[in-house]
Amino acid sequence: MNDVQFPGKPRLGVNIDHVATLRNARGGLHPDPVDAARIAAEAGADGITAHLREDRRHILDLDIARLRKEIPLPLNFEMAATREMLDIALKVEPHACCLVPEKREEVTTEGGLDALAQQSHLKSCIATLSQAGIRVSLFIDPDPPQVEAAMEMEAPVVELHTGAYCEAVLSEGMESTAAEREFERLRISAKLAESLGLECHAGHGLNFDTARAVARIEAFIEFNIGHFLIGQSIFSGLPSVVERMHAALEDGRRFALTGGGP
Ligand code: PXP
Repeated sequence: MNDVQFPGKPRLGVNIDHVATLRNARGGLHPDPVDAARIAAEAGADGITAHLREDRRHILDLDIARLRKEIPLPLNFEMAATREMLDIALKVEPHACCLVPEKREEVTTEGGLDALAQQSHLKSCIATLSQAGIRVSLFIDPDPPQVEAAMEMEAPVVELHTGAYCEAVLSEGMESTAAEREFERLRISAKLAESLGLECHAGHGLNFDTARAVARIEAFIEFNIGHFLIGQSIFSGLPSVVERMHAALEDGRRFALTGGGP
């Protein structure tokens, strides 16, 4: 089984926001999220993701500039679709921008963008970033109308919010009806995105088990994972956690490629 080739080996983007959360708790320089990105790169991460929130609660402007300059991997810059963030993105020129909804009071990004409700605003942000050569993804819930709206706005990539699936697994178990329902939403939306020619990513709340399960859906080619990886690295070190996450993703994909299906 281990010699199955991976034509589409799942990519792992490591989100280092919460290294900055820990650093900022003391207001100093340690631990440095750029060091975390370097270690993740050496351990085989395919990309680095960082979210510059409007309130700068974790990642700071200088972190973004240093990630771009010092880390040889593609930078996926998560941002709200605001004028301030657009200006920063155009200056930094990351490989990709993932547009996310942002509410000041939320603990994390709680839901996907409402691409249907904000079509003209998002379309103009996508056009501005695309013209600058930046690959844009829209972070949306796994709902077919949202995927179709993303395609109409000419977003080349969608990232489907896996939070509801992960919550269902945590609260009711992997085999529960709720988890199966959420998995099905992901599967249907990912397949639709693929059929419309959109590149499809997954992210939010994933751990080894849920990442392995979601990787069975072949349409997902990239996984952006943060909180679990950084939290788990306290116990077993970031290189080992990155390697284990890659192994989990490949395990899920291998299952699909050898006929197991999602
Ligand atoms: N993808 C997007 C668009 C996100 O906003 C986040 C959270 O910052 C993640 C992925 C990573 O989520 P988590 O930290 O729960 O792994």
